[in-house]
Amino acid sequence: MSCSRADAAHRHRLIAGDCLAVLSAMEPGSIDVAVTSPPYNLDLRYGAYRDRREEADYLDWMVAVCAEIRRVLKPRGSFFLNISGSSSRPWLPFELIVRLRPLFHLQNHITWVKSIAIGEDSSGHYKPVNGQRFLNHAHEHIFHLTQDGHVTLNRLAVGVPFKDKSNIARRGHAQDLHCRGNTWFIPYRTVQSRAGKFHHPGTFPVELPQWCIRLHGQPAPVVLDPFMGTGTTLVAAHREGGHGIGIDIDPGYVAIAEARLAAEPASQPFPPD
Ligand SMILES: C[S@@+](CC[C@H](N)C(=O)[O-])C[C@H]1O[C@@H](n2cnc3c(N)ncnc32)[C@H](O)[C@@H]1O
Repeated sequence: MSCSRADAAHRHRLIAGDCLAVLSAMEPGSIDVAVTSPPYNLDLRYGAYRDRREEADYLDWMVAVCAEIRRVLKPRGSFFLNISGSSSRPWLPFELIVRLRPLFHLQNHITWVKSIAIGEDSSGHYKPVNGQRFLNHAHEHIFHLTQDGHVTLNRLAVGVPFKDKSNIARRGHAQDLHCRGNTWFIPYRTVQSRAGKFHHPGTFPVELPQWCIRLHGQPAPVVLDPFMGTGTTLVAAHREGGHGIGIDIDPGYVAIAEARLAAEPASQPFPPD
């Protein structure tokens, strides 16, 4: 059974508007987990948003949005910020994270590996790069930001089974799982058409926000994505038994997000520890 639009509307809030304005009207301390991937200032062709600002202006804007995210986050909340540089703007994620230092503790720095080659084998999509100076971009950053650096996580909710099973008894583990670590391989799949990416130039795979939500480990969390795009974070929040709040400046993307949520199965329990 799929989730009707009314169901989705009841459980999640999708808002067309400027995230700074919408966030400033939200209750302080009301969000458990924020997961977002803002525009990277790369001149991507979004619908309503022009992805090209002066770098200083872009950084000021991002700091203002992140300050609002901090305000609406619960004291034990987690903010996962996915961002990447590019061959022409390699410093951007580092400039931003340093600017966020007065607002947040950098509790974890996760590397999202989108494609990887091990030996002769490769997995994931390799987006072509022009010229011979630069390597293909095979990873992005996920900065896990918290208010004081002391937020307890459910590491095993995204854990992996032991390769050597003798470790379980020898080291006194309660189950066949260990921490995945801070390198997450979530292959970026080759998409053959614009429709396959929901007519949006910069989506992330649903596993990415799902793993962030699971790692935070709060049952039925309130999950925010102020740059929701096609609603991938809200689909993840729905699958993880949470309540999503998504904002995008482009009403066309909000409509796509609504349709994606409406196509989701009606309800899913929060995964066990
Ligand atoms: C990188 S995309 C997010 C994609 C999303 N993670 C997904 O999987 O579909 C960034 C989004 O930010 C939106 N955006 C740009 N400026 C905005 C603003 N001021 N307020 C809200 N959304 C904005 C763009 O329309 C775009 O959809």
